[in-house]
Amino acid sequence: MTRTTTQTNRRIVLASRPTGAPTADNFRLEEVAIPALEEGQLLLRGQWLSLDPYMRGRMSDAPSYAPPVEIGGVMTGGVVSRVEASRHPEFKEGDLVMAYTGWQEYAVSDGTGVNKLPAGFAHPSHALGVLGMPGYTAYAGLIDIGQPRPGETVVVAAATGAVGSLVGQIAKLRGCHVVGIAGGAQKCEAAVKELGFDACIDHRAADFPEQLKAACPRGIDVYFENVGGA
Ligand SMILES: NC(=O)c1ccc[n+]([C@@H]2O[C@H](COP(=O)([O-])OP(=O)(O)OC[C@H]3O[C@@H](n4cnc5c(N)ncnc54)[C@H](OP(=O)(O)O)[C@@H]3O)[C@@H](O)[C@H]2O)c1
Repeated sequence: MTRTTTQTNRRIVLASRPTGAPTADNFRLEEVAIPALEEGQLLLRGQWLSLDPYMRGRMSDAPSYAPPVEIGGVMTGGVVSRVEASRHPEFKEGDLVMAYTGWQEYAVSDGTGVNKLPAGFAHPSHALGVLGMPGYTAYAGLIDIGQPRPGETVVVAAATGAVGSLVGQIAKLRGCHVVGIAGGAQKCEAAVKELGFDACIDHRAADFPEQLKAACPRGIDVYFENVGGA
């Protein structure tokens, strides 16, 4: 029998598998007692949760590179948490960690897959962004696979998204001509003015092909695909 505490955890579980875009009906909010820690366990309290496109894949039981979230299971997600209590030798109260503990306020862990953030890490949420999975994806995809050279043209879709915004900025640091593709004038303006892209084109524009051609006078050397659409 699991011993519990008087503290309550609120968590969001997958209630049913969505067809098309998910709705609130596909989820259920549960309140459950937090189990008492056993030797070797730690209690995590979520501080920042990242919402990412891969989560839609986990809501489906279609064949994938990763298993689906079970019906009734806590929705998955990367979370930066504070260690609230520890009976684990490698973690102490107050440590900040990153782990895939999902859409819930608290999680009990045995330390597997829990990565401690360095002490004094100025912006802990960056462990979910530029210094986390989206940053690794942008860096490895662009530098290891795309391998752009200075002066080459890099085009990136979802240009203001978590991955695309970093792809474009890294490409600029590498001396490339960078053209983003994004949905809407506001995003395109941000890509150029805030992120430093050379140009950004709205994929909803009627003359999108002509604009893309004009922005890439020497053609496209690397295309970083982010959306899987036309
Ligand atoms: N393999 C890995 O390890 C890994 C890791 C991280 C991310 N990823 C993948 O990388 C991609 C980007 O991730 P992210 O976290 O940067 O995403 P994000 O920030 O959520 O960006 C998603 C953007 O894609 C665009 N978009 C969505 N549906 C579209 C459609 N049907 N047609 C055209 N554009 C559409 C939208 O931007 P606009 O409105 O500007 O078009 C949307 O804001 C995703 O495919 C994600 O699954 C893979």
